[in-house]
Amino acid sequence: MLRLALLTSLLATSAFAASADEWRNRTIYQVITDRFATSDGSSPSCDTSQRQYCGGTWKGLVGKLDYIQNMGFDAVWISPVVANVEGNTTYGEAFHGYWTQDINSLNSHFGTADDLKSLSTALHNRGMYLMVDVVVNHMVGTADPPNFSAFQPFSSQSDFHSECFVSNYDNQTEVEQCWLGDKNVPLVDINTEDNNVVTTMNNWISSLVSNYSVDGVRIDTVKHVRKDFWPDFAKSAGVFTIGEVLNNETSYVSAYTQVIDAVLDYPSWFPLVAAFQTSNGNLSALAATVQQAQSSYKDGEFMTGAFLENHDQPRFQSLTQDSALVKNAMTWPFVQDAIPIMYYGQEQSYAGGADPANREALWLSGYVEDKPLVTHVKTLNAARKAAIAANNSFLTTAVKFPSTGSDSTMAILKPPMLALLSNGGSSSTPKWTVSDAGFQANEELVDVLTCTKINADSNGGVTVQGSGGSPQVLIPTSALSTAGTTCSSLATITQTSSARGWVDGAADSLPVLAALVLAVWAAQSSLVL
Ligand SMILES: *[C@@H]1O[C@H](CO)[C@@H](O)[C@H](O)[C@H]1NC(C)=O
Ligand SMILES: *[C@@H]1O[C@H](CO)[C@@H](O)[C@H](O)[C@H]1NC(C)=O
Ligand SMILES: *[C@@H]1O[C@H](CO)[C@@H](O)[C@H](O)[C@H]1NC(C)=O
Ligand SMILES: *[C@@H]1O[C@H](CO)[C@@H](O)[C@H](O)[C@H]1NC(C)=O
Ligand SMILES: *[C@@H]1O[C@H](CO)[C@@H](O)[C@H](O)[C@H]1NC(C)=O
Ligand SMILES: *[C@@H]1O[C@H](CO)[C@@H](O)[C@H](O)[C@H]1NC(C)=O
Ligand SMILES: *[C@@H]1O[C@H](CO)[C@@H](O)[C@H](O)[C@H]1NC(C)=O
Ligand SMILES: *[C@@H]1O[C@H](CO)[C@@H](O)[C@H](O)[C@H]1NC(C)=O
Repeated sequence: MLRLALLTSLLATSAFAASADEWRNRTIYQVITDRFATSDGSSPSCDTSQRQYCGGTWKGLVGKLDYIQNMGFDAVWISPVVANVEGNTTYGEAFHGYWTQDINSLNSHFGTADDLKSLSTALHNRGMYLMVDVVVNHMVGTADPPNFSAFQPFSSQSDFHSECFVSNYDNQTEVEQCWLGDKNVPLVDINTEDNNVVTTMNNWISSLVSNYSVDGVRIDTVKHVRKDFWPDFAKSAGVFTIGEVLNNETSYVSAYTQVIDAVLDYPSWFPLVAAFQTSNGNLSALAATVQQAQSSYKDGEFMTGAFLENHDQPRFQSLTQDSALVKNAMTWPFVQDAIPIMYYGQEQSYAGGADPANREALWLSGYVEDKPLVTHVKTLNAARKAAIAANNSFLTTAVKFPSTGSDSTMAILKPPMLALLSNGGSSSTPKWTVSDAGFQANEELVDVLTCTKINADSNGGVTVQGSGGSPQVLIPTSALSTAGTTCSSLATITQTSSARGWVDGAADSLPVLAALVLAVWAAQSSLVL
């Protein structure tokens, strides 16, 4: 019966309608559609400084889902899909998708409605989710005053707040009702205090989600719309909502955790980057921010999206090229409470600085999978899945930061996982002394990043001597077995009788199960090599 129900829900892709709880155990790969993959697999040149369309499409994305799924991601966040400003502006073309002109039409540069539906179906067939980025705060003009009749469906000046550009970010009314952008490319602020506008927006998000079987919505510029606009909008979406509230203070972001399902974890992103960008970074400041969020957000840190990079910030590898610092920083989103998000290209060591340099075409990398950071993220995804499978409290247990005996190291405890990070850099030999690691006496542990075994001490603590500044992610060997494997026997997972019985018993046509086993197997085979 259960199996039938599972099969039915898998096949009913048009009714995925994923809730916050169904997103908790996933990890998200973020792409800018224009820069991820072309329809015919060609590799046109793409000079980011020109800010022009480079040719990526939804069809291209469908053709490269193996690449994303092989890394262990089970959700994809795509850049906005609706029709944007056409042609060149002072700041280039709208290849990123954030310059809405018509919310009821799609951006034809990325394909047709059928192409977007095919993307949604292709993801669902793999047991993966589609997250679509939406902009509610503004429409975008190309002159001052803007041509209001170019906007749809809000084509009258009264559908917008009157012109004033945000300058004082301490005045929340100004933040919500004045305009972003400038006179060249004004981000014309929609009057979300108007009831007709509100009703139209709510109906729109409902039909967007339903037309394209969207599983989750990422909302742009959330802090620029009054807070009490959001609950009805989120309810109309009917699926998981995660919002961008660009601010470094948990006290500011906290209020938004009350009005939508989740927020992007910007308050932790600032200290995260600072902590690992140099060997002088403050690791305690990162932990302190997380603890503030744990105690002040509606769902603690669980309903946040953790990220190291995104399309708005300089890539981490433009700040440091030290491979150990990069690996440590990349590990962070995967070993703590939030939903991990990785921005495309990080795995290929892309190092573009501030926008537009951080929006490189991924096809220029050749999508090579045999690369250190691709392997790293594969392993992190597999380790997270193993921890989820091994302990059904993993996703609801808040991380703790036991002391390590050193300012340049940090321990992140989320049973059965203990992540050990360091910002000493690749010439350092970090040491972690964690007395309250909570393992069993002398328990056998494995660092999943290297498949090195160590034992807990007689009090369940660990003393770990690292090398090359590398992070470690420790899991009891027994926890890995619960998920069907240990590091050293990873390659045999699909041959064990219980694993085979599980897949066969649930029917080979169940794409999600096959994909899961394949993802674990793929990550594991790279661990053995
Ligand atoms: C995530 O949890 C849901 C139950 O909420 C379960 O059906 C699904 O298989 C889990 N997925 C993964 C990848 O663990
Ligand atoms: C787009 O417009 C900007 C500003 O006028 C200009 O600098 C740039 O060269 C233009 N790009 C193209 C490809 O026309
Ligand atoms: C304003 O937009 C409308 C609708 O797209 C168009 O017909 C008109 O030519 C535009 N006016 C100007 C001055 O660009
Ligand atoms: C805040 O901004 C609003 C909108 O621009 C303005 O009307 C109001 O006077 C400002 N408040 C303060 C205290 O400056
Ligand atoms: C959804 O599809 C309906 C029917 O084709 C159409 O009227 C509506 O505009 C579409 N909504 C969106 C947001 O694309
Ligand atoms: C946030 O940024 C502001 C402005 O740069 C700064 O004054 C403040 O100390 C920062 N807050 C935190 C928690 O870092
Ligand atoms: C690091 O951050 C912690 C927590 O915010 C703070 O108490 C400490 O003073 C900072 N250390 C340094 C060296 O700045
Ligand atoms: C599972 O997580 C709970 C909550 O953190 C913890 O008390 C328990 O020891 C964990 N079990 C294992 C086997 O790691």
